[in-house]
Amino acid sequence: MQEKLQALAARARAEIAAAANGEELKQIQVRYLGKKGEITAVLRGMGQLPPAARPVIGNLANKIRDELSALFASRENELREEERRRQMAADQVDVTLPGRPQQLGYLHPLTQVMEEIAEIFLGMGFTIAEGPEVETDYYNFEALNIPKDHPAREMQDSFYFQADLLLRTHTSPVQVRTMEKMAPEVPVRIIAPGKVYRRDDDATHSPMFHQVEGLVIDRNISLSDLKGTLLLFARQMFGEQQQVRLRPSFFPFTEPSAEVDISCVICGGTGCRTCKDTGWIEILGSGMVHPRVLEMSGYDPEEYCGYAFGMGVERIAMLKYGVDDLRLFFRNDLRMLRQFR
Ligand code: DAH
Repeated sequence: MQEKLQALAARARAEIAAAANGEELKQIQVRYLGKKGEITAVLRGMGQLPPAARPVIGNLANKIRDELSALFASRENELREEERRRQMAADQVDVTLPGRPQQLGYLHPLTQVMEEIAEIFLGMGFTIAEGPEVETDYYNFEALNIPKDHPAREMQDSFYFQADLLLRTHTSPVQVRTMEKMAPEVPVRIIAPGKVYRRDDDATHSPMFHQVEGLVIDRNISLSDLKGTLLLFARQMFGEQQQVRLRPSFFPFTEPSAEVDISCVICGGTGCRTCKDTGWIEILGSGMVHPRVLEMSGYDPEEYCGYAFGMGVERIAMLKYGVDDLRLFFRNDLRMLRQFR
């Protein structure tokens, strides 16, 4: 009996030492020390032994049970520690590896130029107005004194959704929306930056482009206010040496109308290819707001007057940075865009 117990103990010790994980160890423990375990069975069977043998066998069985219990406990700790080590090795971060550089975003050059234009006018007391890009025929044309069948519509070949709903062809409808909202309050002094759309596509025209509209309504506003404002703008945008000139032109919503030139930013006025040897470069359209436009939007043209202008942001950006193809702004080529970080 004693030999049988010793053999049992030896087998248990070997199995405990060989257990590969906590799960296996638990099963071994149940097999020897559980309710129906082999050692437990020996202890339970004491009654069947001759009385003289009982203390000896009992003692030995108890000793073995205690020894095995302790072995299980220490092997369990060992296994847990091993597992912890393995986890740590798996989770390890190598702090000596070089970092992954974060790619920082930056604003598109056109956004930067648009913000720069806006800053200049905000500095002169203008505020920013906005309008929808999907516009009605009324705001885009009619209220700007461009009736149906007016030939001026031909300059702005448009994208229509329905007969009277289109992608705005200019930011001028924001003039009307602003006046309607504010009338008869003065002064009105807003700029309206935003996207506009036309059926054009070549080196200097894109089907989507950006404009900044300007509108001032008050009493006693004159062309000299317009010229002074635009001169200040040109000097802040392109440098103190700038001059501006107004050339007579036609827009249905202004009377008189003018195209505004600045001195050529490439040659400074002496004449070059960019300015076609004139020394001047056109940057915007403008004029005194037409009395009919004032009237339709709620301002009495006998009492109030004002000026308006509209400039192309792409054109300003091309001049400022010497970009000769408008499409470069829209190709998403990082070699181009990164130059404006
Ligand atoms: N809306 C005109 C265009 O897109 C530009 C323009 C001209 C705006 C004269 C104005 C203006 O406000 O007075 O061609």
